[in-house]
Amino acid sequence: MNIVMTGGNGFIGRRLAQRLLDGGEAIGADGQRVAFEKLVLFDIARLDDELGRDPRVEQVTGDIADAATLARVIDASTAAVFHFGAVVSAGAEADFDLGLRVNLDGTRNVLEACRRLPAPPRVIFASSLAVYGGALPKVIDDATPLYPQTSYGAHKACGELLISDYSRKGFLDGRALRFPTILVRPEPNLAASTFASTIIREPLLGRETSCPVDPSSVMAVMSVARLLDCIVHAYELPAAAFGAQRALLLPAISAPVAEMIAAVRRAGGAAAADRIALRPDPKTQHIVDGWPGGVNAERAVALGMRADATVDEIVDSFVAEDLPRMLQAAR
Ligand SMILES: NC(=O)c1ccc[n+]([C@@H]2O[C@H](COP(=O)([O-])OP(=O)(O)OC[C@H]3O[C@@H](n4cnc5c(N)ncnc54)[C@H](O)[C@@H]3O)[C@@H](O)[C@H]2O)c1
Repeated sequence: MNIVMTGGNGFIGRRLAQRLLDGGEAIGADGQRVAFEKLVLFDIARLDDELGRDPRVEQVTGDIADAATLARVIDASTAAVFHFGAVVSAGAEADFDLGLRVNLDGTRNVLEACRRLPAPPRVIFASSLAVYGGALPKVIDDATPLYPQTSYGAHKACGELLISDYSRKGFLDGRALRFPTILVRPEPNLAASTFASTIIREPLLGRETSCPVDPSSVMAVMSVARLLDCIVHAYELPAAAFGAQRALLLPAISAPVAEMIAAVRRAGGAAAADRIALRPDPKTQHIVDGWPGGVNAERAVALGMRADATVDEIVDSFVAEDLPRMLQAAR
């Protein structure tokens, strides 16, 4: 059996791919664990690192908006699909048609390809806190109504509903996970939240950078290590754990940006923190102000998932696991 991952060349896709390769097993909708033969990484961009050289990895370059290509990639040997390919927040705001085509039509193509399989696959969909918006309570939870205030958030909310409906019909066994902002990305992308990674990564790499929001701005964040734990856990849980409620808010810690800067100071000294210049950008500030700050993910916690303890824990894990390799590559 095979696993297919869309967005397989992205930040989270690459990290999850390595975790899945280390585990070596796939789980289909019947809950049976089987050693997988292939991990198919599907992305519009070509994978060019170590991962692509693993004999179990097959790379397919293509567009999820192209239904025919996807139908070839998601075939009768597919036990599970991780759907991560997306045009992220600021990208979808900048190009409405592209966002709609990739995020909505692309998701529909993924689900339709799954529907045509002889055995319904298990599907993990990367949703986002961007599904929330409008007049939000101080702390959001699974029951908070969805009023997305970006096109990207609207596409993710539509994806969640489709995951639920295709699961209800028995076409697949889907789980939509609402990710908070995941730290620390190795390079920027078009997400409005990308600066949160940049203000940690760049100064610790010895480079000057800027922070586009007021340090008092609060964000819900999680380390990539904790996220991978949550994704794998959600993937392994039986369908009964989700029932009719296929979307799940993941745990996160609420951190003022000032706390991220303080964690950089503790990890890299005053010289590192001084490399962060405050350069307010009203557009980014407006988007960040619309995001939920506090997260009550009681349901995910009851299912066995957890957040990081502190921002220092997130920064320290970046320093221990990623920074040495990045420093070496930068030389
Ligand atoms: N990183 C976060 O903080 C965060 C937070 C919430 C939700 N998410 C969601 O998690 C998923 C992964 O996020 P990420 O941080 O790895 O993002 P990323 O930008 O690093 O990766 C997205 C990948 O999708 C690919 N892609 C874009 N358009 C495509 C297309 N038409 N066809 C095929 N592939 C295409 C890109 O090439 C990229 O490799 C996304 O769906 C994102 O919306 C991420």
